[in-house]
Amino acid sequence: MTEPKIRIQNLYKIFGAKPQSVLKEVEQGMSKQELLEKHNHVLGLKDINIDIPAQGVSVIMGLSGSGKSTLIRHINRLIEPTAGKMIVDNEDVLAMNKQQLMEFRRHKASMVFQKFGLHVHRTVSENAAYGLIIQGTPVNEAKQQSQKWVERVGLAGFEDHYPSQLSGGMQQRVGLARALATDAEILLMDEAFSALDPLIRTDMQDVMLGLQEELHKTIVFITHDLDEALRIGDTIAILRDGAVIQQGDPQEIIMNPADDYIVDFIQDINRGRVLKVKTMMSRGHSVTGPNIPATMSLEEALPLVSASDYKVGNVVDESNDVLGSITLDQVIAGLVRPEVTTNPESRYR
Ligand SMILES: Nc1ncnc2c1ncn2[C@@H]1O[C@H](COP(=O)(O)OP(=O)(O)OP(=O)(O)O)[C@@H](O)[C@H]1O
Ligand SMILES: [Mg+2]
Repeated sequence: MTEPKIRIQNLYKIFGAKPQSVLKEVEQGMSKQELLEKHNHVLGLKDINIDIPAQGVSVIMGLSGSGKSTLIRHINRLIEPTAGKMIVDNEDVLAMNKQQLMEFRRHKASMVFQKFGLHVHRTVSENAAYGLIIQGTPVNEAKQQSQKWVERVGLAGFEDHYPSQLSGGMQQRVGLARALATDAEILLMDEAFSALDPLIRTDMQDVMLGLQEELHKTIVFITHDLDEALRIGDTIAILRDGAVIQQGDPQEIIMNPADDYIVDFIQDINRGRVLKVKTMMSRGHSVTGPNIPATMSLEEALPLVSASDYKVGNVVDESNDVLGSITLDQVIAGLVRPEVTTNPESRYR
C-alpha cells in the first residue's frame, strides 16, 4: 500500500481554559457531557486516527457539532491540537515554524469555505487570482494564470463581475477556481456545497468530480449530507461527539453500520441506487445467466437477474472476466433496510 498523504494520529482537541489539565481524564474515556459538567471544557476531538490516501476524495461526515470543522482545521493547523500528530507527506505539520506553515498553507493545502470566502470588492478574476497573489505572483500574471480555472469552472465572460452580481453557485465556482489556481495538491473543503440549492449543488459536485478525474487532487470533503458523501466519496469517516465511529468504503458502511447513529444516517438512502452488484455478489465460477457489471447498481441489476432463467447472473469486471455470481435473493437482500434496534426516544436526530 502507498503511504497515506495525510496521517492523523491520536488527535485530541479540548476547548477551554486548561485543556492539558483534563486531557488525562479524556484519554481515560471521560465523555463530552461529563467533561462539560465537571470541568467546563468542551471535547472537540477525541483520539482521531485517519489515514487519508493521495488522489482520492475522503469524506468526513457527522451531525452539527460533531467536530467536522474542528478536524479539517487541524490539517492546515488553523487549530492547534491538545495532543496527537498531523503528518502530511511525511512532514510533521505541528513541528513547522511560522514561515514553513505559511508556505504549507499557500502551496500545499488550499481551503474552500462554505460561505465562499470571497472578497466583495474584488472581481471574479481578482478573487480567482487571490491565492496566487498571496503566493507572491504579480497581479497581472496571477490573473492570467487563474483565467484558465475561471474558464474551467464555467465562468468565462464573468471575469469583471463582482461577487454580489453572482448566484451562490457561481460564487462557489469562484471559490473553487481560486483554490485550484494555487496548484495545491490538497483541497480542504468544509461544507463547500452545503449552502447551495439541491440542483446547483449536484452541478457543483459534477464540476468537482469532472475536474478531479483529470487533476487527482487529495480532497478532504466535509458534509453532513449522506447523499453527497456517497456521490463523491471514495472513503467516508463518520464523526459523533468528536470521535470517529466508523470509517471506510461507503458500500461497506452501508452493509455493516457500526451502530444506530450510522443506521440513522443511512435510513433514507435509496439502497438500490447506491449499492453495487460487487457488494452483494459471491466470488466464484461462472453460472448460466446474463453478464452483469460489478459496478452496476442493484436497481439496474434487479430486472436482469429476475428475467434470467435461473434467477442468477455472472458478475463481470470491465474486461468481461467473471468475478463471481449474484442471485435474485442476494439482490433483494441488498435492498432491504437494516432493522432499527433502539427505541425512538434515544435517537440522535
Ligand atoms: N473555539 C471553540 N471554543 C469552544 N468550543 C468550540 C470551539 N470551536 C468548536 N467548539 C465546539 O466543538 C464541537 C465541534 O464543533 P465543530 O464546529 O467542529 O462542529 P461541526 O461538526 O463542524 O458542526 P457544523 O456542522 O455545525 O459546522 C462543538 O461542540 C463546538 O461547540
Ligand atoms: Mg462545521
